[in-house]
Amino acid sequence: MIATRLGGYDLKSPLVASCGTVGSVVDFAGVGDLTAYGAAVAKSVSGTPWAGRKPPRMGSTGAGMLNGIGIQNPGVVRWAADVGPQLESVPTDVWGSAVGKNAAEFAEVAAKLSGTTVRAIEVNLSCPNLESGRMFALDAKAAAEVVAEVRQSTELPIGAKLTPNSEDIVSIADAVATAGADWVVLGNTVWGAGFDIETRRPLLSGVVGGYSGSPIKPIALRCVWEVSQALPGLAIIGSGGVTSGSDVVEFLLAGASAVGVGTVHFASPRIGGRIITQLRRYMSKHRIADIAELVGAAEPW
Ligand SMILES: Cc1cc2nc3c(=O)[nH]c(=O)nc-3n(C[C@H](O)[C@H](O)[C@H](O)COP(=O)(O)O)c2cc1C
Repeated sequence: MIATRLGGYDLKSPLVASCGTVGSVVDFAGVGDLTAYGAAVAKSVSGTPWAGRKPPRMGSTGAGMLNGIGIQNPGVVRWAADVGPQLESVPTDVWGSAVGKNAAEFAEVAAKLSGTTVRAIEVNLSCPNLESGRMFALDAKAAAEVVAEVRQSTELPIGAKLTPNSEDIVSIADAVATAGADWVVLGNTVWGAGFDIETRRPLLSGVVGGYSGSPIKPIALRCVWEVSQALPGLAIIGSGGVTSGSDVVEFLLAGASAVGVGTVHFASPRIGGRIITQLRRYMSKHRIADIAELVGAAEPW
């Protein structure tokens, strides 16, 4: 059985299509294989439209990918009107993702997303939008304030998306769980940069952006491990560098109950079905009837 439970939320599959890598989800549904996923997260939206950063906003680094999109989005009102009515056509649960410049904006977005058929809300605390330019997820108090306001604004389950860039991810996870998050997503991209040696220009207009893909898997696994060891009751989605069934197993062993699939979609939009086939093969080889047997099942030395 590959169905899993995330806090009180039942997922038919442990795969969650990661925010920002499957567009509005509706557009991705035409090219991807969303039947393999328990849920798919639509691109983060804010209270007002955000233009995002100037190009170039994506860069290939040889291993992994850099992006500095800056959460370009049409604002939640427009999103709910244009994308909202199409969500029913998507063959899996769709979750919304809220961003904002302050707790009130996050709460407003969450309330408006709740007026559509999204089944849960990710609170994207890991983009640099504090007035100071820092991320909410780097500050336990600021992160908890956002989650507490979002909790007041919606009945839907809430996932808090944290950053691997934080110094002490356990204390941030603890703060957002206490403030009302039903699960945490660990994590988001890792700060990175790259340069074109011919033009001598940075790969991204904003120079520093988010690094994602296979090379960040050990960093995400470390975050999952630290939080699952310190806060054993807290449900976790592992996110970072997943491309195969064995990657999924690693995240489950570290303590995640579900796993994000992100950057790999740009090269292989139909990867989800293959990952599930590999996961099932591993389970049958090791006589595992239920993936719950794998969650947090890493053996000590
Ligand atoms: C191009 C791109 C855009 C992204 N946009 C968002 C976003 O809007 N909101 C968010 O929470 N995460 C966003 N992410 C982060 C991914 O959801 C994911 O957490 C991260 O890339 C790590 O997983 P991966 O290595 O499987 O891609 C984005 C990632 C990429 C590559």
